[in-house]
Amino acid sequence: MFNKRIKIKELLLQQAGQQGIVVMGWVRTFRNNQFIALNDGSTNANLQIVASLGEFNDELLKRITTSAALKVTGELVESQGRGQPVELKATEIQILGDSDAEKYPLQPKKHSLEFLRGIAHLRFRTNTFGSIFRIRHSLAFAVHQFFHEKGFLYMHTPIITATDAEGAGEMFRVTTLPFDNPPREESGAINFKEDFFGRSTNLTVSGQLEGELGATALGEIYTFGPTFRAENSNTTRHLAEFWMIEPEMAFHDLEDNMNLAESFIKYIIRFAMENNMEDLKFLDQRLSEEEKLLPADKRSEMGLIDKLKFVVDNNFERITYTEAIDILLNSSAYKKKKFQYEVKWGIDMQSEHERYLVEKHFKKPVIVTNYPKDIKAFYMRQNDDGKTVAAMDILAPGIGEIVGGSQREERLDKLVTRMKDMHIAEDELWWYLDTRKFGTVPHAGFGLGFERMVLFVTGMTNIRDVIAFPRTPKSADF
Ligand code: 4AD
Ligand code: MG
Repeated sequence: MFNKRIKIKELLLQQAGQQGIVVMGWVRTFRNNQFIALNDGSTNANLQIVASLGEFNDELLKRITTSAALKVTGELVESQGRGQPVELKATEIQILGDSDAEKYPLQPKKHSLEFLRGIAHLRFRTNTFGSIFRIRHSLAFAVHQFFHEKGFLYMHTPIITATDAEGAGEMFRVTTLPFDNPPREESGAINFKEDFFGRSTNLTVSGQLEGELGATALGEIYTFGPTFRAENSNTTRHLAEFWMIEPEMAFHDLEDNMNLAESFIKYIIRFAMENNMEDLKFLDQRLSEEEKLLPADKRSEMGLIDKLKFVVDNNFERITYTEAIDILLNSSAYKKKKFQYEVKWGIDMQSEHERYLVEKHFKKPVIVTNYPKDIKAFYMRQNDDGKTVAAMDILAPGIGEIVGGSQREERLDKLVTRMKDMHIAEDELWWYLDTRKFGTVPHAGFGLGFERMVLFVTGMTNIRDVIAFPRTPKSADF
């Protein structure tokens, strides 16, 4: 058996005095031909390993270079130096993998996030990305725990689908037809009957419609999977491939939906605070150093951990879309013409508007409800005013929209009329409409963009830095 190692995170909590301890990891630094800082990914804290002078031959010592992989056996002793309570006095050092220090792209100094994006295959080996990916894991785990505790079923909705759930036409096509010479119908149109699935298909933009099928029988379900959008948005908040969590609940109205979303967000933040405090402290520190370089008015008012505590301990603000527009119209920012985009009832709020509401006006997360029907998807429940739908978006400080959801239109006639108005083919969605024919019920759900949530919890500012290998316009490396 090879894997007899103890993880460094665990070892650092143990008492000195034990013999025959085995650790494995990658060298961060090697000082004075004697002190190795070893990291194994379990924590940012490196284990100090002492290779006492004269006990190891020069050939071996020369191979202990930055990022070389080692197996070290030794005795856990009280540390002589400052910074750590214990250290490992090596009795045996084995090089598992050499690393040419001259060619290794990560030097023990500060690299820019942009540079690190170019070497995303190696950036996990930095403290910043170690922290981010441990927190990302915790948040994902907490998502499952939250819904499991509430009796929701984890439903796997298809990745390849023939529908455009959001009706926004931002889909990546999936095909095996030759693109240089596809089979054609007499009219000249591409003949998708000859395609792999016998029809035209795409990568899913959302699992919601299938989720509704599950919820209207199983009661409460959630999805957590990759979704794909071919929107050409080259921003710090958009990915072409992102992970989304979509709960869908029978017997829920809009308010139930908001209550669930708010308690869900608080739960997963709390989980990270209980399980990842060391990494959060590291990122908090990192953020405050970054922000020292910004002009005073661009800095956050709260540190990362204070912000998370504040969000967990306070109610989200709840306002209607109409109230949100009034606030914007009465703001000094509007009066001083600080907004780049127009403000009036009916607009799809731009991120500058959302951020004003959240960061300047309320200074906390805000749930905006009852949006104009013309800027929202066909499936949202129509309100009695004839103008708005039972939609809700949650806006978070520093992020903007983090959740989008709604109560669904459960009344067949209203749904069909809306689909006609929006030119959505009924025959394509016959299966969706069936749920409204056979025991329809009030139901609701939402989608949380997982990377936006990870951004919020880690305090990072670019979505490319919270997913291992980002897919964005003109970029799909690794
Ligand atoms: O608001 P959206 O488009 O809503 C839906 O897809 C619904 N079907 C959800 C539902 O009700 N079940 O997307 C939901 C969330 C957004 O609030 C945002 O957090 C995230 O998904 N999101 C993106 N995240 C990263 N990159 C993108 N391109 C995103 N587009 C949406
Ligand atoms: Mg949305």
